[in-house]
Amino acid sequence: EKAGHKHFMAKEIAEQPGVLGDAIGHYLSNDGLDVNFPADGLDFTAYDRITMVACGTAYLACLTSKYWFEQLAGIPVDVDVASEFRYREPPVPARTLAVFVSQSGETADTLAALRYTEGKADKIAAVVNVPESSIARESDIVFPIHAGIEIGVASTKAFTCQLTVLALMALKAAVAKDRLDAEGLAQHLVSLQNLPGLMNIALGLSGDIKDVAAKLAEARDVLFLGRGAMYPLALEGALKLKEISYIHAEGYASGELKHGPIALVDKHVPVIVMAPHDRLFDKTVSNMQEVLARGGKVVLITDAQGAKIASDGVWQTIVLPEVSDLMAPILYALPAQLLAYHTAVAKGTDVDQPRNLAKSVTVE
Ligand code: F6R
Repeated sequence: EKAGHKHFMAKEIAEQPGVLGDAIGHYLSNDGLDVNFPADGLDFTAYDRITMVACGTAYLACLTSKYWFEQLAGIPVDVDVASEFRYREPPVPARTLAVFVSQSGETADTLAALRYTEGKADKIAAVVNVPESSIARESDIVFPIHAGIEIGVASTKAFTCQLTVLALMALKAAVAKDRLDAEGLAQHLVSLQNLPGLMNIALGLSGDIKDVAAKLAEARDVLFLGRGAMYPLALEGALKLKEISYIHAEGYASGELKHGPIALVDKHVPVIVMAPHDRLFDKTVSNMQEVLARGGKVVLITDAQGAKIASDGVWQTIVLPEVSDLMAPILYALPAQLLAYHTAVAKGTDVDQPRNLAKSVTVE
């Protein structure tokens, strides 16, 4: 049942190209040039804002998609962890779309947050892996992520499928708001369909990542840095690492480094920098240089162009294929997952059943 893998997590990481291809197939029109949503659809012209609520990795998928909804569609997005949202009882203005993201669809805090928005939000949408779940049943419209059953406690394929569905929603919103034409949409969809191929290349780097992980396993603290949509991914990389390897890890927005966390940096602290060669690359590299100047051990995860410019003085460089800005967080999730996985295996922890954690958190 682990299909030749040592752990469910390894299997679930490895099957992402196929699973993602499937998930995309469920949402694309036959000619692949348009997105088909559930029957009653979502009319994005009816909403001025989106409020997104989730926990853990699902929350980080929401945080990533905030960049997409805001940049592509120009719709302001609030993102909250469910346990804060439900007790803060925030105002929900008119013309708000509420989106709840949950792999299990049973997370108690997320469900309670959903119930709080009933009668307040214009529409309640659920992005879930389990279509029969409570969160799906209590929503107005359900977007299944089609990831298949996820057994490893650390979420992997559900995260990339959540991102995929949220990216499709953001693209549809951009079209509805007249900020993207049919041709622009089609271009994004072509690069989305190329993503499984790029993911296969990323999985091929597993051996290199394992070598890095062997050294990471000796660390006490690890920092993850990213800018823009790579910032939530830095948080996800840190979450995955602490969950299964029990190494203390934190994710930061690269620009926040000098506002405190850089005090932690010395030659014992590996710093993982997630930086495709995009319009923010130079900014991230200058933050990385601040780390190098303090003797920090940098693992740079980038593409060929980025590696060419910025590998000097870096401890390890992991080179991913080039990818569109929109798809980058989905592709870069794979080395983050593999880094956590191989580090945990090197430490001999229980990868699929980490201590103190449950797959579905149905108590608050
Ligand atoms: C992390 C992880 C958790 C879940 C969180 C929400 O790897 O799996 O952080 O993402 O408990 O669970 P769902 O998505 O089922 O609501």
